[in-house]
This record gives sequence, structure tokens and C-alpha cells, in this order.
Amino acid sequence: MKNKNIAPRIVVALDYADAKSALNLAEQLNPEICRVKVGKELFTAAGPQLIERLIAGGHSVFLDLKFHDIPTTVAKACEAASRLGVWMLNVHASGGTAMMEAAREGVERSGQDPLLIAVTVLTSMNQQMLSEVGVTGTVADQVLNLASLTQKSGLDGVVCSAQEAPILRKSLGEEFCLVTPGIRPADAALDDQSRVVTPSQALALGSSYLVIGRPITQSKNPLETLTKIHEGLEAKSQ
Ligand code: C5P
Repeated sequence: MKNKNIAPRIVVALDYADAKSALNLAEQLNPEICRVKVGKELFTAAGPQLIERLIAGGHSVFLDLKFHDIPTTVAKACEAASRLGVWMLNVHASGGTAMMEAAREGVERSGQDPLLIAVTVLTSMNQQMLSEVGVTGTVADQVLNLASLTQKSGLDGVVCSAQEAPILRKSLGEEFCLVTPGIRPADAALDDQSRVVTPSQALALGSSYLVIGRPITQSKNPLETLTKIHEGLEAKSQ
């Protein structure tokens, strides 16, 4: 069985509007100590060509498109994404077991072996918003419920907040991938994040991969900031 939780654990969110800005930042990073994440805005603007260029530059790419559709459509989208050679891709767990199993089959058809993970409850949603869409349980219950469904459907992990990581790690085991945004080094600005943890707190809480955007992308010296965070994590894991 492949090891799903391996270094580098830092995933730099390339939240840019165009390929030029994203590549400019990516070229300053060291792919031996980080991976990169491409989301909907950048992928819609820059397309598969950007993914190919990032991979050619030595980067492992998390393609964060959060697919959610009928099973056949999601299977084909996951197959196409996997063929690009990405390291990780994702779907919405609320699409259900049939959709997630189809996603897994799509990935397998590609002949590639990326990690396939799911989003449980978007962290922008609170209790009231959940009940508006017909979910009566608590946010925490729904996160655990959808993460269990994700594991049963044969996926590799979930995106979650670091606060949710301990309970998910305990219930779903050491191998399950927990990918956590909302990370801020102690000396960094919060930007629009509210509940944040430091990189080493995230690791201690059970996170497998740490998604970090602006503290690195907006830094005067992105490589220096990345290296500092990396060295801090190395020191903790020794
Ligand atoms: O710049 P920052 O570190 O806040 O970027 C975090 C990245 O993680 C962004 O790409 C954001 O969309 C993503 N994200 C998040 N919170 C979630 C899910 C994803 O911040 N719950």
C-alpha cells in the first residue's frame, strides 16, 4: 500500500489570477520542501498548460477543483485531471458514495496514481447554513459522517480544519490523509482567516499536509519564509 503521508508536507496555495504570476512565484520555491495547490480561479484562467509547466518545473500539484456532479461526469473529470499527472485532486463528499466510488474508478482508468481526497463541510458554513440545506446534526457530526463515507468509498483523505484533525485521526486511522488550510506562522498576518493554528500545532493535531497561501506568497522573500516554516517542522518531527 502506498504511503499517503509523506514529506514535503507544506502545500503552497497559488491563489493567483493568471499563469504568469503563479509561475513567477513557483519558480522561487524549492520543490524539495513544498508542493503547490492550483484552485478554480487559476485553473479556469490558465488551464492544463499551467499544470504541465508546474510539473515540468519539478512541482507536485494539488488540483483543488472540488468536483461535485453526477457520478459519470465526476469520473470523467477525475480521469482527465489524473492524466495531467497531478499529485492530488479532490471532490465534494456530499456527492455521496456512488459519486466518490466513480471518482476513484476514473482515477484508476487514467493509469496514474494521484491521491484522491474529499471536502466534507466547507469551513465557510456554520450551523445555521447547514440547517438551511437540510442537515440537522452539528457541523462536527456532519464532518465526521462525511469523512467516514469518504474512507468507505475508497478515497485517500479529506480536507479539514486542524481543529477537526484529532477526532478524524482517531476515528479514521494513521493512514488517512488530513489536509488542513488555516495555517499561520506565529508572526504572520491573519488575513481573512479567523481560527488559525501554527504549522507545528497543525502537525501535532494530526495534519498530514499543511495548505499555506499568503504567508508565503505575499512574503518579501517567499523562499526564505518557506524554508523557515520547513525547518520549524523538521525540528518538531525529530
Ligand atoms: O492564504 P491562505 O493561507 O489563507 O490560503 C489558504 C488556501 O486554502 C486558500 O487557497 C483557500 O481557498 C484554501 N482553503 C481555506 N479554508 C478552507 C478550505 C480551503 O483557506 N476551509
